Amino acid sequence: MATSRGQFGSRIGFILAAAGSAVGLGNIWGFPTQAASNGGAAFVLVYLVLAFLLAYPVLMAELLLGRHAHGNTVIALTRISDRPLTKAIGAATGLTGIIVASLILSFYAIVAGWMLGFTVAYPLSSLGFGSSSTWLTAFTVPRNLTLMTCFMVMTMGIIMGGVHNGIERWSTRLMPALVVTLVALALYVFTLDGAVEGLKVYLLPDFSKVFSGDLILAALGSAFFSLSLGVGTMLIYGSYLSDDEYLPSIGAQVALIDIGLAVLAGFLILPSMYVAAERGVEIFDASGALLSEDTLIFSVLPALFTSLGSIGVIVATAFFGLMSMAALTSSISMLEVPVAFLVERFQWSRQRAATIAGTIIGLISAVVIFNFESLFGLVIALTTRYGQPLLGLMLCVYAGWVWNRNSLLQELKKNNPAAEKTWFWRLWPFYVRIVCPAIIAIIFARSLL
Ligand code: TRP
Repeated sequence: MATSRGQFGSRIGFILAAAGSAVGLGNIWGFPTQAASNGGAAFVLVYLVLAFLLAYPVLMAELLLGRHAHGNTVIALTRISDRPLTKAIGAATGLTGIIVASLILSFYAIVAGWMLGFTVAYPLSSLGFGSSSTWLTAFTVPRNLTLMTCFMVMTMGIIMGGVHNGIERWSTRLMPALVVTLVALALYVFTLDGAVEGLKVYLLPDFSKVFSGDLILAALGSAFFSLSLGVGTMLIYGSYLSDDEYLPSIGAQVALIDIGLAVLAGFLILPSMYVAAERGVEIFDASGALLSEDTLIFSVLPALFTSLGSIGVIVATAFFGLMSMAALTSSISMLEVPVAFLVERFQWSRQRAATIAGTIIGLISAVVIFNFESLFGLVIALTTRYGQPLLGLMLCVYAGWVWNRNSLLQELKKNNPAAEKTWFWRLWPFYVRIVCPAIIAIIFARSLL
């Protein structure tokens, strides 16, 4: 079976694909505003520490489990178990991950559809198609359905191409474009009045806000979402990696790119907010806090783009294009989770698996769109607040307790005979056995309150 499976063609291809999964709306949309309202650079620091001490070990658990099994989560967790009970729980965990990944995609595709709509709306309106442009940006059921469907079809198209010709090819195209667009936009915004004020808010650390327990837990939750952990996304990407790669350093590079781009996005988003404020756009709510994330993206920034005149059209198109690219390299990693399972379990063709899984997820999205008020927030909370931490906990338990230590070491030794002597081997097993499960259990217990 291993020979007929897809594989990443190169190390850099894998790193860009995995970083593409990690870098998404969470980085560009969530992280900067969270940092701004929670102590600026102090938050960034705490986030960095947490991402490396806690999220990175879980990422490594997924990559190692996946590469060891060269199969989906169900295969990976049952193969390392030697008792019927752990096999059954492993299979159930894998299946739950597939459902949670699909549900995450069902809300992500709605938001990503909005990004597509805004990307096209600006050029359309400057070409005189004002009413189409208004239709694309106004919140209506038909528009939400249409754009979600467009986005799902794009995601399915890439996944049908396979690991090398779909995921890897598109990630290696989109990721560099994303970085260039992000840097260019940030440099442009620096030239506008008010930008320095935003930079100050972002970069001057306010440590008084950082040591609150709530904040640390929130930062950890976003680190998990940002690194796409728990549902088997990284596990399945790891399963497409060749046995020649030494995983700890590859995983570290992926984590670094993810964090790096989140920090970089802050250099665009915060100065933009304060430039908007300088031009009379309201950026604080009644209590004096910075406006929440969706108001920021869909009203503050558009107001800023409009105030820039004709160059605003270019800036806006680039900005929402950036968001769409980031969303697409993430959504393909979500769809790959059910698709890999269907292909490996039922020997379906990729085309068939992607069509069926994508259609079902699209239908779930449609249900969410029709019942937006009651379902949208609920699906997000269920999947990211409960699903991800619990599944992450299970993965740590399997990597740390169920997986035989010797077999684990053999996995690392495949490409590093001295693996036993590395810092990774000295620290990671302890982390994944004790520290990570304990911390995740705390987060989970708190999220139940
Ligand atoms: N990490 C992506 C972001 O920051 C989202 C994402 C991709 C994800 N795959 C995932 C989140 C799997 C949870 C699980 O936007």
